Amino acid sequence: MIRPILIHPDPRLKKVCDPVAEITPELRSLAEDMLETMYDAPGIGLAAPQVGVTRRLIVMDCIKEGTPEPVVLFNPVVFWSSEDRSVYEEGCLSIPDIYNEITRPAEVAVRWTDVDGREQERQFAGIWATCVQHEIDHLDGKLFIDYLGPLKRQMITRKMEKLKRERARED
Ligand code: NI
Repeated sequence: MIRPILIHPDPRLKKVCDPVAEITPELRSLAEDMLETMYDAPGIGLAAPQVGVTRRLIVMDCIKEGTPEPVVLFNPVVFWSSEDRSVYEEGCLSIPDIYNEITRPAEVAVRWTDVDGREQERQFAGIWATCVQHEIDHLDGKLFIDYLGPLKRQMITRKMEKLKRERARED
């Protein structure tokens, strides 16, 4: 089931999300819905708060062509970051049509619980590293525009408020 994606500004996008203690059937179906919603958008990552659920869950697939590689991460934690930095032009499904260059560690090692409740560890590089950091930020109420200067951020927020007003009128 495709779920509606919240658009910034929204208080649910600013919350520190709660950890998941147990992977219930409801959370498994939420993860499936999130993947479906992400592929439909289309996007390469989605965090639970973006569909209004303030729990620590993200989904990703950074494969552009070829066999899809969906990854579901409950309670993801970055436990190592490289000194090396990389710059990517980031966007966000909650901030449509806005893109900005953001600098982050080029590689990160992440620990998480998978859909079967097993602990997983993986080192991410390239676009995967940027994506996983961007999505984990969402779980702490942080958006990529929070890395920009206050004026630029305000300008984008006003643009999004206008977009939301327009969409509300259309409904
Ligand atoms: Ni995002």
